[in-house]
Amino acid sequence: MLGRLNHVAIAVPDLEAGCQVYRTMLGATVSEPQVEPDHGVTVVFVELPNTKIELLEPLGENSPIQAFLDKSPSGGIHHVCYEVEDIIAARDHLKAEGARVLGDGEPKTGAHGKPVLFLHPKDFCGTLVELEQA
Ligand code: CO
Repeated sequence: MLGRLNHVAIAVPDLEAGCQVYRTMLGATVSEPQVEPDHGVTVVFVELPNTKIELLEPLGENSPIQAFLDKSPSGGIHHVCYEVEDIIAARDHLKAEGARVLGDGEPKTGAHGKPVLFLHPKDFCGTLVELEQA
């Protein structure tokens, strides 16, 4: 069912500082910031030859990553995103296996304009998992 690793997302308290680390210290190509009010984040994409890193900064009062940063103030790995061919089939399979899908269980449009779902970390080795229809 799982396809490629689409991205690893890292929550950061300061997006500009995070961009500096990846662009200047690590010599990576970093996109312009993309404001995602529906998701409560501002995001940049670090382009790597085989995958992407997303740096996420909280946006607004109810950002879903604020609680994470309260616990890890210097930032940290927030989720991993795997590609699937058919997100509805993947969701139905996982629900049948007893896994918890977050939110209302319906795919939302993610940062790349594709349908995404998030899965409960307690069901996936302590890691928040995003599925994206490739
Ligand atoms: Co993501």
